Amino acid sequence: MRPSSRLERLPPYLFAELERKISEKKAAGVDVISLGIGDPDTPTPEPVVDALATAARDGATHQYPSNRGRAELREAFARFYERRFGVVLDPVREIVPALGAKECVFNLNLAFLDPDSVALAADPGYPVYAGGPLLAGADAVLMPLLPERGFVPDLDAIGGDVAARAQLMYLNYPNNPTGAIAPDGLFERAVAFGREHDVLVVHDASYTETTFDGYVAPSFLETPGAKEVGVEIFSLSKGWNMTGWRTAAIVGNADAVEAYWRLKTNIDSGMFEAVQLAAAAALDAGPPEQMPAIYQHRRDLVCDALAVIGVEVTPPKGTIYVWAPVPDGHTSASYCELVLDESGVVVSPGSAYGPAGEGFFRISLTVPDERLAEAVERLRGSLGG
Ligand SMILES: Cc1ncc(COP(=O)(O)O)c(C=O)c1O
Repeated sequence: MRPSSRLERLPPYLFAELERKISEKKAAGVDVISLGIGDPDTPTPEPVVDALATAARDGATHQYPSNRGRAELREAFARFYERRFGVVLDPVREIVPALGAKECVFNLNLAFLDPDSVALAADPGYPVYAGGPLLAGADAVLMPLLPERGFVPDLDAIGGDVAARAQLMYLNYPNNPTGAIAPDGLFERAVAFGREHDVLVVHDASYTETTFDGYVAPSFLETPGAKEVGVEIFSLSKGWNMTGWRTAAIVGNADAVEAYWRLKTNIDSGMFEAVQLAAAAALDAGPPEQMPAIYQHRRDLVCDALAVIGVEVTPPKGTIYVWAPVPDGHTSASYCELVLDESGVVVSPGSAYGPAGEGFFRISLTVPDERLAEAVERLRGSLGG
């Protein structure tokens, strides 16, 4: 048996060594606290669960759904976009539900890349931006997100040959893993780049609803001309505590949405209709209001603790992560191992998100307050001073 060469192209799994060590610690009886993965610990809002239960009792939801999605869901996305962002979307041509942002990002590579083409992917970034193009038989060209540039790609630095081969550009603000927000002008530059080089700009809006200190994140589609060159992927996973539900949508450029839909009709059979109706209820209700304050409190707890152990960070204005530099003398991996060894706390090595993530580590804020407080105490105790 031999896996495809496509699969062999994927880079080694950088969490493998860390996972081995975590298992070892747990086997030795250590109470490991994982701040590794970004998966909300707070349940999905009760009315959304009720909407699912009601819809699931209706046998009419039990058959194959259509990949176009139910009108109720597409219309709920359109209402949400208009209310929240002032963006008007045609629910028939400009919205198709996705089984999570991950599925949508991956499948866009299949829909838009040929073997000689490339996708421009942020580095560090959500791993599917770089892995998806490889699995599609194309290439990913990394756009470094550097601290001195506010973790924003330098679009002027993209060479003419790369720009000519590029078919896709992935952007994501508020940004995983850096916590950066989109500065003024970035989306306008992306629209100009998309126009000039005929590149589909894909903005991953997974964290627009999780922001702090009064910051309100924009949609890429608010930018003049964005719909001509781009799409946005909007997910309910993080904002509504619905990671397990697999609810998102691709919205924006009608031709791109159509291409994604055409591909999907060959790959999956859409979202369970009861989940679609529950997601529509979630969109109409808006994201649970208490979540940003919960994460902001946790962010402050973590940033204060990091200062005590000599790690200075700029508190992020969005996402569910704190991105921090590793102390001198360490690599991302060696520091994460030290933190695990000394305190039984798991943090993610920045290098797992791309080469430009080397020298950083990521802390996720998705553990209950008491556990996070305990993790922070352990960090202070074992690594402080
Ligand atoms: C930037 C980004 N995009 C997409 C995803 C996946 O989201 P979904 O649950 O909608 O597939 C994540 C999850 O961590 C993410 O950080």
